[in-house]
Amino acid sequence: MLYPDNAGKMSWNRLHQEAHFLPCRRPSTIRWAVEFVNRVQAGQTVPMTSRTKAAARATQPDDPAAAADRAARLRGFFACYVATKGGATDPRIEQAFTAVPREPVAGPGPWQIRVPDGPYIPTPDDDPAYLYQDWLVALDAARGINIGEAGLHARCLDALALRDGEEVLHVGAGAGYYTAVIAHLVGPSGRVHAFEIDAELAERARRNLAHLPGVHVHARSGIGDGLPPADAVYVNASAVGPSWSWLDALRTGGRLMFPLHAPGGYGAMLRVTRPSHGPAWPATFVSTAGFIACEGLQDQAAGRRLAAAFAGGGWQEVRSLRTDDAPDGTCWFAGEGWWLSTEAADDGTIRVRR
Ligand SMILES: C[S@@+](CC[C@H](N)C(=O)[O-])C[C@H]1O[C@@H](n2cnc3c(N)ncnc32)[C@H](O)[C@@H]1O
Repeated sequence: MLYPDNAGKMSWNRLHQEAHFLPCRRPSTIRWAVEFVNRVQAGQTVPMTSRTKAAARATQPDDPAAAADRAARLRGFFACYVATKGGATDPRIEQAFTAVPREPVAGPGPWQIRVPDGPYIPTPDDDPAYLYQDWLVALDAARGINIGEAGLHARCLDALALRDGEEVLHVGAGAGYYTAVIAHLVGPSGRVHAFEIDAELAERARRNLAHLPGVHVHARSGIGDGLPPADAVYVNASAVGPSWSWLDALRTGGRLMFPLHAPGGYGAMLRVTRPSHGPAWPATFVSTAGFIACEGLQDQAAGRRLAAAFAGGGWQEVRSLRTDDAPDGTCWFAGEGWWLSTEAADDGTIRVRR
């Protein structure tokens, strides 16, 4: 697949990066590609004309079997790329990304792609190659709601170490792409409760996940009373602290992962493990992250303090979350009734098993 750059022109760098997505053997496409490369190498720019778009479209086979085969190859490479980028150590992460198609979740193309810290740009057509890139694909561009970056989720899901048969709460499910990845990781004997506060997205998720019997979509907030007990809670919207309802839902040895940061900013994904006893919970940051805000867990003053704490550094040293109210000299950040310590939890009995 050939891409325009931000100015709508073809560039040699883009062609060089993406040329492996040009599987079409049609003479007209090959002739066009050769001419295109020669012009770019000669320093000429090639605007997005209708011919350029037509040539790009021609890379999509008409035959449904060939199109499915191409989509599977795109997905396989994408899975390998994001698992490698995320440093995933569990081979099931790549398998899960290989197994779950993105087309139904993204809906019909063309799609809106979010440039990091920039605007959305439209894809020129509905070639699925645009969906198998490690970038943000809009679910609702007007509200800044996207299918999140797969490399980040590969890293986080690897660190969450989900196992066959486990029960997972997925908070902020969007249209259900990562819910399906989670369902693959816990297998047919596992269960996933997907919470999505936006009614329209929840309905999309329900449709997209209807073929997975272990998945239940709840069109409601993933915070508050009535959360089922779980082995893991995976949150995809940012909070200025953990919800007590998430911590309460966890079984002993259960893991919570959520993006800790101020609304509209950046912070990091925190993994917290429920100990068998005591107020010290093993906790560590897994990756930097920036998510849209989790409704119900925002507090401007706490957000400002959190942003200052991240700006001050040292977050990589955090080793435990404390649920007593006595922050000591090891405190990196204190919320209300909880704080993060650079000292490891002394409950050595909890290990994240694979
Ligand atoms: C960054 S989007 C992620 C969507 C999805 N995980 C993905 O990557 O495709 C975050 C989602 O969280 C939802 N959300 C925000 N606050 C929520 C809450 N309290 N409970 C459930 N969903 C919430 C938003 O409506 C949005 O769809």
